[in-house]
Amino acid sequence: MTTCTDNWEQVEAAAKTVLGERLAEYIRRATEKPHPESQLIAVLHEVQSEFGYLAEAHLDAVAQLMQVPAAKVAGVASFYHFFRLKPRGKFMINVCLGTACYVKGAERVAQKITEELGITWGETSKDGVFTLEGSRCLGTCGLAPVVMIDDEIHGEVTPDQVPALLEKYLKKARE
Ligand code: FES
Repeated sequence: MTTCTDNWEQVEAAAKTVLGERLAEYIRRATEKPHPESQLIAVLHEVQSEFGYLAEAHLDAVAQLMQVPAAKVAGVASFYHFFRLKPRGKFMINVCLGTACYVKGAERVAQKITEELGITWGETSKDGVFTLEGSRCLGTCGLAPVVMIDDEIHGEVTPDQVPALLEKYLKKARE
């Protein structure tokens, strides 16, 4: 690997501290492949699956270890919707915003969730329990409006049911 700094060992050590030995080794192997930059998305996936999201420090460390400009790494991470740049909550709430759900009042359900949790789309509640996202059709239109929390589908959800639904998961989070 070529280096562009005089204190490469220090840079490498700092990046390893942020990412850990396993990811550092994963990146080292990725950079040995014919077109290292083409491995960037795979590397970012690996980092995200380890930490749940991509913090600025993770992106900087990836840039350093891959010898790719930090702006490029940040650009790729923010371009693709599957990369998360903020920590996610213990539970992911996905409110379906597909047509069937929208027509049946998904927006009102989402509004109630945002009121209850004090967050908006893409945000995580202060207690770290919930992250709220909107999603395309979840394939269960007959149950519209649909809210998926982690892998559990909740159908025909009304705004009035939202507090009890959230409470159920809050209890799980406390267990
Ligand atoms: S539109 Fe919501 S499940 Fe299909």
